[in-house]
Amino acid sequence: HDAVRIIEAKRDGRELDDDEITWIVDAFTRGEVAPEQMSALAMAIYFRGLNDREISRWTTAMVDSGRRLDLSGLTRGGRAVPTVDKHSTGGVGDAITLVLTPLLATYDVAVPQLSGRGLGHTGGTLDKLESIPGWRADLDGDEMRRILSDTGAVICAAGADLAPADRALYALRDITGTVPSIPMIAASIMSKKIAEGTGALVLDVKFGSGAFLPDRADAEELARVMVGIGADAGVRTSALITAMHTPLGRAVGNALEVAEAREILAGGGPADMVDLTCALAEEMLAAAGIDVADAGSLAGDGDGATTVDGPRARLADGRAMDSYRSMISAQGGDPDAALPVAANIHEVRATEAGRISWDALGVGRASWLAGAGRSAPGESVDHSAGVLLHRVEGEEVRAGEVIAAVHAADADRIPAALTELDAALTLEPGGPANGGAAADAAG
Ligand code: URA
Repeated sequence: HDAVRIIEAKRDGRELDDDEITWIVDAFTRGEVAPEQMSALAMAIYFRGLNDREISRWTTAMVDSGRRLDLSGLTRGGRAVPTVDKHSTGGVGDAITLVLTPLLATYDVAVPQLSGRGLGHTGGTLDKLESIPGWRADLDGDEMRRILSDTGAVICAAGADLAPADRALYALRDITGTVPSIPMIAASIMSKKIAEGTGALVLDVKFGSGAFLPDRADAEELARVMVGIGADAGVRTSALITAMHTPLGRAVGNALEVAEAREILAGGGPADMVDLTCALAEEMLAAAGIDVADAGSLAGDGDGATTVDGPRARLADGRAMDSYRSMISAQGGDPDAALPVAANIHEVRATEAGRISWDALGVGRASWLAGAGRSAPGESVDHSAGVLLHRVEGEEVRAGEVIAAVHAADADRIPAALTELDAALTLEPGGPANGGAAADAAG
């Protein structure tokens, strides 16, 4: 095989055969294909695409570039349990994993949740959890299995030996303008999930300004492709397509989102996050073959199949919180420790009355500018930084009301974050009239 010929073939719009794909991914992993050549191939794929067969083969080649974890035969309390995981394509204020993973672990399943760090304006689950004093993201395979068996839930970093071809290719795509390619995103995400060894997978594929693929039709195509890759690899995969035009919940930023996740685990929290968490939980339970009854009931149907109570009941009665505490403690974290609080908190007030709309991308960028994200790989993040929305999409406000706050350890970062946040705000006229403070009972 010859890398130049393969690049030329894709450049000219030809299909690559299985051997060519297997060879080039393997040779790239071994350092025989130069980064310049792989970058050129990525750009050819960006323009020409890959068909479903090529995508499946590409994904398998990336899985085979490293180790595939074996989670078969995992037990909890002596009983074999299925493994089920979820993946979100990334968004703003998306702390769903922090609630969903321990919530699912209250059922007879194990949730191996290999997660990532923030990318651009989107937050990363590991950065969020590292706000918790003592919590460790790096576990080896044995620790991961042991904790999964003990608590049913693990959220940790993917080891370097998991789909190394994707790691190397992602780094090239990131600096060559080739990230937003549906086949390459699909293969990248699915290679890591297949290598992780989960038996079932639920995808939360986002569309809207805060998503990687803002267009709904693109998100649907990405979901279709990923579900197909999962089926080919023997992973039961399903997908929900969900909106990311405005942030989820009220909190954006690492410790702020952990605090919000705890509110949900305590039975409260913003309704949009609770609804999405429960929708994903029900989808994951179905994927694991667990039949959930209507809220509250606990019944056997007499045919041997039993139904169990639903996720809302388990958020409300503290079982999900107990599970969260075990999961955090098992990875060295102190679930009772205070979270970092920003030294500088700058409130934002509405300059006029109206109905609020926050653009997800802009709020995500404001949080990133406040210090919640990185501008170079390996940088540390400010765990206390971010944006707290006091008023969310669709709420009506009066002139002068506090609608948001920017949090930052570094006061110098606040002005740029405020400018970005201001641009993310739309106040539609038609809200409460200016000067209507007399009607504001809260003062
Ligand atoms: N997340 C990934 O893991 N890979 C991509 O290509 C895009 C988002």
